[in-house]
Amino acid sequence: MSLKLGVIGAGAIGKEHIRRCSQVLQGATVVAVSDINTDNARAAIAQAGIQAEVYSDGHEVIKAADVDAILVTSWDPTHEEYTLAAIAAGKPVFCEKPLALSAAGCRRIVDAEMKAGRRLVQVGFMRPYDEGYCALKQTIDSDQIGLPLMLHCAHRNASVDEHYTTEMAITNTLIHELDVLRWLLNDDYRSVQVRFPRASRHAHARLKDPQIVMFETQKGTLIDVEIFVNCRYGYDIQCEVVGETGIARLPEPSAVQMRKEAQLATAILTDWKDRFIKAYDVELQAFINDVKAGQLHGPSAWDGYAASVAADACLQAQESGEKVTISQPPRPAFYDR
Ligand SMILES: NC(=O)c1ccc[n+]([C@@H]2O[C@H](COP(=O)([O-])OP(=O)(O)OC[C@H]3O[C@@H](n4cnc5c(N)ncnc54)[C@H](O)[C@@H]3O)[C@@H](O)[C@H]2O)c1
Repeated sequence: MSLKLGVIGAGAIGKEHIRRCSQVLQGATVVAVSDINTDNARAAIAQAGIQAEVYSDGHEVIKAADVDAILVTSWDPTHEEYTLAAIAAGKPVFCEKPLALSAAGCRRIVDAEMKAGRRLVQVGFMRPYDEGYCALKQTIDSDQIGLPLMLHCAHRNASVDEHYTTEMAITNTLIHELDVLRWLLNDDYRSVQVRFPRASRHAHARLKDPQIVMFETQKGTLIDVEIFVNCRYGYDIQCEVVGETGIARLPEPSAVQMRKEAQLATAILTDWKDRFIKAYDVELQAFINDVKAGQLHGPSAWDGYAASVAADACLQAQESGEKVTISQPPRPAFYDR
């Protein structure tokens, strides 16, 4: 039986997920799409070449009798409301990151899910499904470079819109690192400090860009993450782990190297959709399979909450310039992996 999906939000990633659920993945059918701009919903349906009901209100999708599970791919501030509504309706929900805008919002989702008595939420943290990150984790876990001592990471986008703010560099962008680095190191954050160098002239008025976010983990690893969202040259994700006996780097996406016109060149991707295209496929296939099998295993509401606890501290650190302590509450047994 095909799992019937309802999608809320048919913008860039909503369209991508509708396409992959309809054309790439197995075992699911998109039967309902909503967007506050219903033209977007219709365009997504047409692009995917499917038949689906269009709604202007996401709550109608959640209530629809023929919808078994929900994908929330609307703007960040709407995630909490729709995820809570899906839990209340007893329907599994895949919610794009961030799970909510604050740790308090994520905690409301965690509490609602625990009250429901079973896991209903998967957060759209796709990097743990990326082949490169999995290979890097395997290198660390198999002790090939000894204990991880330091990490140097970068999250660079070519450019961002005028609506993108200094805070969004944390809640919308760094949130991926906040999740994947806990998973990669099997560790948690103890403190954070944020520093701003001289600002790029390409940053908009509401954005200080770039910034460096420095963490200390519970086990004592030091991490620096450069966030530079107007780097101009491409979409570039870097992660280098310095261990006691060696250094391991996140593999670069494969690309042909060219010798031409007195230059040695390798193309750099420019679009996040391409950089993690396989990881998005694998994470959503896992959600579909797990919903059908009756047990979710992917990044949980607790993972969304833990990332947001760290994000809240990063926002404080942006404001104060001081080192801010991160107090991560213990994970309830409900979320044991
Ligand atoms: N996992 C990832 O790597 C990744 C990548 C891109 C985006 N995202 C997340 O996905 C979400 C959407 O991002 P995007 O790039 O597609 O943005 P977008 O602006 O292209 O699309 C968002 C869509 O949601 C619609 N929308 C807004 N409020 C709505 C509501 N209340 N109900 C229904 N529809 C609503 C908008 O009209 C728009 O069509 C964001 O939260 C973003 O953080 C995640």
